[in-house]
Amino acid sequence: MDIYKLLRDDHSKVKSLFKELEDTTERAVKTREHLFATLKMELTVHSEAEEKFLYPRLTEAEETREITLEGIEEHNVVKKLLIELDEDPKGTEEWAAKLKVLQENVEHHVKEEEGEMFKKAKKVLSDEEAEAIADDVESFKQDYSALEEQA
Ligand SMILES: [Fe+2]
Ligand SMILES: [Fe+2]
Repeated sequence: MDIYKLLRDDHSKVKSLFKELEDTTERAVKTREHLFATLKMELTVHSEAEEKFLYPRLTEAEETREITLEGIEEHNVVKKLLIELDEDPKGTEEWAAKLKVLQENVEHHVKEEEGEMFKKAKKVLSDEEAEAIADDVESFKQDYSALEEQA
Protein backbone atom coordinates (compact mmCIF):
# COMPACT_ATOMS: atom_id res chain seq x y z
CA MET A 1 0.00 0.00 0.00
CA ASP A 2 1.17 3.49 -0.86
CA ILE A 3 1.26 5.67 2.29
CA TYR A 4 0.50 8.80 0.29
CA LYS A 5 -2.54 7.24 -1.32
CA LEU A 6 -3.69 5.77 2.00
CA LEU A 7 -3.64 9.21 3.64
CA ARG A 8 -5.17 10.94 0.61
CA ASP A 9 -8.08 8.46 0.70
CA ASP A 10 -8.72 9.40 4.35
CA HIS A 11 -8.63 13.08 3.36
CA SER A 12 -11.30 12.45 0.71
CA LYS A 13 -13.49 10.61 3.19
CA VAL A 14 -13.27 13.56 5.60
CA LYS A 15 -13.99 16.00 2.79
CA SER A 16 -17.25 14.23 1.92
CA LEU A 17 -18.30 14.11 5.58
CA PHE A 18 -17.84 17.89 5.75
CA LYS A 19 -19.93 18.20 2.59
CA GLU A 20 -22.73 16.12 4.12
CA LEU A 21 -22.63 18.19 7.31
CA GLU A 22 -22.75 21.41 5.29
CA ASP A 23 -26.09 20.32 3.85
CA THR A 24 -27.72 19.84 7.28
CA THR A 25 -29.95 22.46 8.89
CA GLU A 26 -30.31 23.60 12.53
CA ARG A 27 -33.32 21.26 12.86
CA ALA A 28 -31.37 18.14 11.86
CA VAL A 29 -29.74 17.70 15.26
CA LYS A 30 -29.69 13.88 15.21
CA THR A 31 -28.15 13.78 11.73
CA ARG A 32 -25.57 16.36 12.76
CA GLU A 33 -24.70 14.39 15.90
CA HIS A 34 -24.30 11.19 13.93
CA LEU A 35 -22.23 12.72 11.11
CA PHE A 36 -20.10 14.70 13.55
CA ALA A 37 -19.30 11.60 15.62
CA THR A 38 -18.06 9.88 12.45
CA LEU A 39 -16.06 12.95 11.40
CA LYS A 40 -14.45 13.23 14.84
CA MET A 41 -13.49 9.56 14.84
CA GLU A 42 -12.03 9.73 11.31
CA LEU A 43 -10.01 12.88 12.04
CA THR A 44 -8.77 11.52 15.37
CA VAL A 45 -7.56 8.13 14.13
CA HIS A 46 -6.03 9.70 11.01
CA SER A 47 -4.06 12.39 12.83
CA GLU A 48 -2.99 9.98 15.59
CA ALA A 49 -1.67 7.57 12.98
CA GLU A 50 0.24 10.38 11.24
CA GLU A 51 1.73 11.56 14.53
CA LYS A 52 2.68 8.03 15.58
CA PHE A 53 4.17 6.64 12.39
CA LEU A 54 4.85 9.32 9.79
CA TYR A 55 5.61 12.63 11.48
CA PRO A 56 8.41 11.40 13.79
CA ARG A 57 10.41 10.28 10.76
CA LEU A 58 9.74 13.62 9.04
CA THR A 59 10.73 15.82 11.97
CA GLU A 60 14.09 14.02 12.03
CA ALA A 61 14.97 15.11 8.51
CA GLU A 62 16.10 18.66 7.82
CA GLU A 63 14.03 18.98 4.66
CA THR A 64 10.67 18.02 6.18
CA ARG A 65 11.11 19.29 9.74
CA GLU A 66 9.51 22.74 9.46
CA ILE A 67 6.41 21.72 7.49
CA THR A 68 5.86 18.78 9.88
CA LEU A 69 6.17 20.90 13.03
CA GLU A 70 3.58 23.20 11.49
CA GLY A 71 1.40 20.17 10.78
CA ILE A 72 1.54 19.09 14.43
CA GLU A 73 0.36 22.53 15.55
CA GLU A 74 -2.45 22.41 13.00
CA HIS A 75 -3.51 19.03 14.42
CA ASN A 76 -3.61 20.66 17.88
CA VAL A 77 -5.95 23.41 16.68
CA VAL A 78 -8.18 20.80 15.03
CA LYS A 79 -8.27 18.74 18.26
CA LYS A 80 -9.38 21.76 20.30
CA LEU A 81 -12.12 22.62 17.83
CA LEU A 82 -13.31 18.99 17.83
CA ILE A 83 -13.62 19.02 21.63
CA GLU A 84 -15.63 22.26 21.58
CA LEU A 85 -17.87 21.11 18.73
CA ASP A 86 -18.48 17.84 20.57
CA GLU A 87 -19.62 19.66 23.72
CA ASP A 88 -21.63 22.49 22.12
CA PRO A 89 -25.34 22.08 21.25
CA LYS A 90 -25.54 21.11 17.56
CA GLY A 91 -28.80 22.81 16.60
CA THR A 92 -27.46 26.36 16.35
CA GLU A 93 -26.02 28.67 13.69
CA GLU A 94 -23.02 29.19 15.97
CA TRP A 95 -22.25 25.47 15.85
CA ALA A 96 -22.40 25.53 12.04
CA ALA A 97 -20.09 28.57 12.04
CA LYS A 98 -17.57 26.79 14.26
CA LEU A 99 -17.77 23.70 12.07
CA LYS A 100 -16.95 25.90 9.07
CA VAL A 101 -13.82 27.14 10.86
CA LEU A 102 -12.83 23.51 11.52
CA GLN A 103 -13.41 22.68 7.86
CA GLU A 104 -11.25 25.60 6.69
CA ASN A 105 -8.46 24.56 9.07
CA VAL A 106 -8.59 20.95 7.90
CA GLU A 107 -8.66 21.99 4.22
CA HIS A 108 -5.60 24.19 4.69
CA HIS A 109 -3.77 21.40 6.54
CA VAL A 110 -4.64 18.78 3.91
CA LYS A 111 -3.46 21.09 1.12
CA GLU A 112 -0.08 21.47 2.81
CA GLU A 113 0.26 17.74 3.49
CA GLU A 114 -0.67 16.66 -0.02
CA GLY A 115 1.49 19.42 -1.48
CA GLU A 116 4.73 20.44 0.21
CA MET A 117 4.89 17.72 2.89
CA PHE A 118 4.32 14.66 0.68
CA LYS A 119 6.55 16.08 -2.05
CA LYS A 120 9.45 16.49 0.36
CA ALA A 121 8.66 13.24 2.20
CA LYS A 122 9.11 11.33 -1.05
CA LYS A 123 12.72 12.52 -1.10
CA VAL A 124 13.32 11.77 2.58
CA LEU A 125 11.72 8.31 2.83
CA SER A 126 12.94 5.27 0.92
CA ASP A 127 10.29 3.10 -0.77
CA GLU A 128 10.82 0.44 1.92
CA GLU A 129 10.33 2.96 4.73
CA ALA A 130 7.23 4.40 3.10
CA GLU A 131 5.81 0.89 2.78
CA ALA A 132 6.58 0.01 6.42
CA ILE A 133 4.86 3.22 7.57
CA ALA A 134 1.81 2.37 5.44
CA ASP A 135 1.63 -1.10 7.05
CA ASP A 136 1.84 0.44 10.54
CA VAL A 137 -0.87 2.99 9.74
CA GLU A 138 -3.15 0.30 8.33
CA SER A 139 -2.87 -1.99 11.35
CA PHE A 140 -3.28 0.97 13.73
CA LYS A 141 -6.51 1.90 11.95
CA GLN A 142 -7.75 -1.70 12.09
CA ASP A 143 -7.06 -1.94 15.84
CA TYR A 144 -8.78 1.38 16.38
CA SER A 145 -11.95 0.39 14.55
CA ALA A 146 -12.02 -2.95 16.40
CA LEU A 147 -11.93 -0.98 19.68
CA GLU A 148 -14.68 1.35 18.43
CA GLU A 149 -16.92 -1.63 17.69
CA GLN A 150 -16.44 -3.00 21.22
CA ALA A 151 -17.25 0.39 22.81
FE1 LIG B 1 -3.52 13.92 6.82
FE1 LIG C 1 -2.39 15.68 9.25
